[in-house]
Order: sequence, then structure tokens, then C-alpha cells
Amino acid sequence: MTDTITPPSELRGTKVRLTPLQIENIHRHFEWNNDPELNRMDTEVPYVEERFGAFKQRFESMLRPSFTNVDLEIHAIDGPLIGVVHIADINRHNQHCLVGLTIGDRDYWGKGYGREALALVLQYCFETLGMHRVSAETFEYNAAWQRLVEGMGFTHEGTERDYLQRDDQYWDKHIYGLLRPTYEAMDLPELPDTSSAAT
Ligand SMILES: CC(C)(COP(=O)(O)OP(=O)(O)OC[C@H]1O[C@@H](n2cnc3c(N)ncnc32)[C@H](O)[C@@H]1OP(=O)(O)O)[C@@H](O)C(=O)NCCC(=O)NCCS
Repeated sequence: MTDTITPPSELRGTKVRLTPLQIENIHRHFEWNNDPELNRMDTEVPYVEERFGAFKQRFESMLRPSFTNVDLEIHAIDGPLIGVVHIADINRHNQHCLVGLTIGDRDYWGKGYGREALALVLQYCFETLGMHRVSAETFEYNAAWQRLVEGMGFTHEGTERDYLQRDDQYWDKHIYGLLRPTYEAMDLPELPDTSSAAT
């Protein structure tokens, strides 16, 4: 497989549905992009407020099909846009990728939306993209993401000590991996079949 990856038109669960990024939602994405607390949780890039023009260019490039990345919006089922998913470093030869997700709308934190979004992403990665391994990374202060990936069967594989410098101190980065046999043995709640989604 050497073609670019066409994002799925929709991955639908019971609480959330995931869709491709949509240009009409750019202002919501821009708001989350410039949120220092979200930046602290979901990226190692130091927070710098980005100008709209620069963000727009980046966002437009994310709308184009890529060989290595799939970016999706998270919508509450029949409701508003609440977050974003990044599937990155997709390596189709070795069948691995890296996932991250952000529920940008804080009203939706701690209510199971992240968990179902991750379940849909894993289903897509393993069953549609044909991955053998999905990785996730987190900083030591991000208890929610750690708990979420551990609860979804990921194994803590290692720690990069003092990886991140933030708040005048160093923080560890934890590396997690989920392999296909573990995923297949998991007793996840039944999700609608997304295997017809295009790759
Ligand atoms: C991390 C994040 C995606 C979790 O999504 P969520 O919808 O709030 O989480 P859920 O309600 O689905 O809960 C998932 C698990 O995390 C736990 N959790 C949620 N918020 C938590 C918190 N603040 N502290 C500790 N655990 C927490 C829940 O208890 C649950 O674990 P359990 O099933 O063992 O009880 C969300 O908080 C978020 O977007 N944070 C900011 C961005 C970020 O950190 N992204 C991850 C790195 S890319």
C-alpha cells in the first residue's frame, strides 16, 4: 500500500461520531490550538500563541490526504464538535502508528467520550488500516490520558526520564503500546461495523 490514506467518512459509536476535519470548523480548532492547558497535555511543543494565518495554512495541509497521518473530528452523537483525533506516523510496512486525542470542550471531560473515541480509533487502526501495533505517549502529569490508555489495554513499555522541560522542571514521558493480539482478546463493547470505511 503506497497510496495516501483517505480518512473514513464517519466512525460512529453510541456517544460520539468521528468525521474528517472540516474547514468550516476551523475557528473551533484554532481556539483549542491556542489553549495553553490543552497544549500542556497533548503536545511537547512549548506553548506559543499561533496567528490565525499560520494555523490556517497548517490546518489546510491537514485536510489533504496524507501517507502517514489521519486527523479526525470528534462530535458528540447528534451534537456539537467536541474534540480531535490524531493518528500519526502510520507505517504500513511495519504496521504501526501513534494515536492521540483531545476533547477540547471541557464540558465533555470525564463522561466517557474520550474512551469511546479511542475505542473507535483503535477499531479503525486495527481493522481498517490493518495495524499490528498502536502506540500512545503521555507526560507524567497527565493522569486522565494514562488512565484511559491503560484502561484500553495498552502496556506501559517504558519511560523517557526527564524528557520534557515545563514549569521550570523536568517531567518523564511514558510510552505505551497495544498489539493486535491483545486488542483482539479484549472484551470491548460492540461498536458499529466500520470496516467498509475507505483507506
Ligand atoms: C485525556 C482525555 C482525552 C480523556 O477523555 P475523557 O472523555 O475526559 O475521559 P473518559 O471520561 O472517557 O475517561 C477515561 C478514563 O480516564 C479517567 N479520567 C478522566 N479524567 C480524569 C482525570 N482528570 N484524572 C484521572 N483520571 C481521569 C476516567 O476515570 C476513566 O478511567 P476509568 O474508566 O478507569 O474510570 C481528555 O481529558 C482530554 O482531552 N484531555 C486534554 C488533552 C489530552 O490530555 N489528550 C491526551 C494526550 S494526546
